[in-house]
Amino acid sequence: MTIKDLLEKDLKFILVGGKGGVGKTSIASAISIALAEEGKKTLLVSTDPAHSISDSFDLDFSSGTVTKVKGVKGELYALEINPESTGDELTKALGDSFDAEQFSSLMSIPGMEAMRGIDQDIKSIPPPGMDEALSFAKILEYADNEEFDTIVLDTAPTGHTLRLLNIPEFLDSFIGRMLKMKTFISNTMAMIKSFFGGNVEKDRTIENLEKLKEKILVARETLMDEEKTQFIIVGIPTLMSIFESERLFEELKEHYIPNREIVVNQINPENKSCPYCMNRRKEHLANLEYIRQAFPNHDITTVEAFNQEIRGIKMLKKLKDIICN
Ligand SMILES: Nc1ncnc2c1ncn2[C@@H]1O[C@H](COP(=O)(O)OP(=O)(O)OP(=O)(O)O)[C@@H](O)[C@H]1O
Ligand SMILES: [Mg+2]
Repeated sequence: MTIKDLLEKDLKFILVGGKGGVGKTSIASAISIALAEEGKKTLLVSTDPAHSISDSFDLDFSSGTVTKVKGVKGELYALEINPESTGDELTKALGDSFDAEQFSSLMSIPGMEAMRGIDQDIKSIPPPGMDEALSFAKILEYADNEEFDTIVLDTAPTGHTLRLLNIPEFLDSFIGRMLKMKTFISNTMAMIKSFFGGNVEKDRTIENLEKLKEKILVARETLMDEEKTQFIIVGIPTLMSIFESERLFEELKEHYIPNREIVVNQINPENKSCPYCMNRRKEHLANLEYIRQAFPNHDITTVEAFNQEIRGIKMLKKLKDIICN
């Protein structure tokens, strides 16, 4: 299967990842143009805190909202997620009713020892990494909605991507613990209130948390389904990049994220009048051969280095024609 075949499938998510500076943003941008031209309503999202899809298109998507990309045939939208503004999802789910002090005082009632383990959790709300987790959760929300046909994710360099892959589990377990805690508070309060003859209002927070948990579960399944998700590893033909691609591939396997495509970018083009270039090219082609052997079941797409930076729609279309031919 080639990238062109891949784009003809009805994928919900295409994740593009790899080592720093290898061309992830350029490839993700070119792929998103190809999808839009195919007639798919496409959203290109950057989860890299150091956004660069604006730079790649030479347009401004920094508003933190979904913006239509002008100059591309079909429907292409771009979004650079601002992690700081995505905290609302959890806050919304937890509701204003969550009261850590109330919870702590309940914990001090004799007989509540059984719930002690979870009171550790409220000491770190939001827990570390929550901003990033919620940015990702925001994207995952698109998994079970029809607003876009395909979401292309331009990720940050490898380490960050690997953290991203752990996020559904992280959120699932965190929300699971919050649910337990909220249910406990809600039941205890209901008991106390009904004892004193008060009204017991329904706690919406639990319902919201359950909905959020369900959404994450759907997204997790979508991410593991090869009919719906493909991860494209981008690398360059150097040993350092190859080793990193191998590690990334292993991690993807561990997380059951489908990955059949590798793009080897920035291969030195042939230039007989330049001994340095020819030497680099020879080295690149030898490494490319190594990549083919190391990934015998992958489709490998090669891209030569352009003689200038890839910037703006015209250049991105040129890159698109190379990777989709
Ligand atoms: N085939 C190529 N030929 C020439 N320049 C390229 C090629 N691919 C990418 N570039 C250039 O290399 C630089 C890095 O590319 P890009 O931003 O796409 O990489 P990245 O992997 O997203 O980087 P980061 O890890 O910083 O997010 C950019 O200036 C881009 O225009
Ligand atoms: Mg990038």
